[in-house]
Amino acid sequence: MKKALALNIDHVRSFISESQIYKLSSAVKEKLEMVHRKSGPGSDFLGWVDMPSSISEQDFEKIEQAATDMQKKTEAVVVIGIGGSYLGAKAVIEALSHGFISRPSGGKYPEIYFAGNNISEDYLSELVDVLEDKEYGLVVISKSGTTTEPAIAFRILKSHLEEKMGKTEAGKRIIVITDAHKGALRSLADREGYKSFVIPDDVGGRYSVLTPVGLVPIAIAGFNIRALVEGAREMEEKTGVEHGLDDNPSALYAAVRYLLYQSGKKVEILVNYHPKLHFFAEWWKQLFGESEGKDGKGIFPAAVDFTTDLHSMGQYIQQGERILFETVISVEHSERTLKIPEDPANLDTLNYLAGKRIDEVNKMAELGTLLAHVDGGVPNLKIALERLDERCLGQLIYFFEKACAVSGYLLGINPFDQPGVEAYKHNMFALLGKPGFEKATREIRKKIL
Ligand code: PA5
Repeated sequence: MKKALALNIDHVRSFISESQIYKLSSAVKEKLEMVHRKSGPGSDFLGWVDMPSSISEQDFEKIEQAATDMQKKTEAVVVIGIGGSYLGAKAVIEALSHGFISRPSGGKYPEIYFAGNNISEDYLSELVDVLEDKEYGLVVISKSGTTTEPAIAFRILKSHLEEKMGKTEAGKRIIVITDAHKGALRSLADREGYKSFVIPDDVGGRYSVLTPVGLVPIAIAGFNIRALVEGAREMEEKTGVEHGLDDNPSALYAAVRYLLYQSGKKVEILVNYHPKLHFFAEWWKQLFGESEGKDGKGIFPAAVDFTTDLHSMGQYIQQGERILFETVISVEHSERTLKIPEDPANLDTLNYLAGKRIDEVNKMAELGTLLAHVDGGVPNLKIALERLDERCLGQLIYFFEKACAVSGYLLGINPFDQPGVEAYKHNMFALLGKPGFEKATREIRKKIL
């Protein structure tokens, strides 16, 4: 097996003791068993647990075929979805893509845009501006098939594409990913004969990146979905129920963050030192925020990009209210080599760094920051990831998913529902006068008068 990600908890030891951690062993084991036996709250949504090892050759082939067809027909693809229906794909694509060249590999793969994750008129209008001169396709993703944000974006872009290409040609450039039977999107896909993929019933949005929800866009972008799933498979094995706290990184992470939470550390900051991981943190925030934040409980998941944010949020982290802990994603190997040159004038006094790789400086910034923050009262966990490739990202995704489920059960909540998300929708529908909301409309109008 390729080197697995490693969790290092050395820098939480001055905040919580070894014995506290190991006292939690049996509780963690019990929660892990609940996840595997599907016996806890929300157990109808545990299909992701053995998803990596159950994806078949046929599943891969179907996705790869659809991706190749789309690549041949388009120079840009818009992935329409919100929350769990886009963040996983966005996270992986950003982490693996060139930071500045939108279509490397000689333009073999389409550029990927995202839409339907906000209701900004300017955003959609500007996207349409860009699409005007491009051969493009659409991948629309919604499990419920009725979510307002992607539904609006799809309506606009589908009609734009149909005007541009004609209905038949447009239809060949649309892929739908939704429920097998229910929802408006399923009816539309069946009626129009769009190519479609199914989101399994027993996988919720934020746990769905290793289903067609994430795999189709990632494959279209030209990345190796087999290696991604292989990495996740490795973690599936490594975090199985037979592994105790000593050799199960997800279980250990869940135990440590639970103890930190109990000790008053209410905010967890996911830290990265690579701008390409910015959206991975967005995916992680949704996973933990939506899973744990309920019944008046839950660690608040925040994220920073270092060293960028050391010049903004660094002050608070070092000396603000001591309610924080950090989890650092530390990437061991950079993909590229760039050394700092010697400068005879040395006006910037940087010659002491001449000949060093930028990554070496980054690593010292990482270590220096970790030590400073721990001294400042911020416990640090470190996740060492070999590199930013598909396999390592697959490991990281599954590691967090498993940890999140165990964490939720430790907290005593259902990590697989999101009842709180409905409140804003209810008010928005009432304010917009959606049919069926007449009473709510009258009530909300009284409130705002
Ligand atoms: O994790 C979740 O379940 C949510 O974030 C959903 O993914 C999100 O609300 C989008 O829902 P849908 O896929 O039904 O459009």
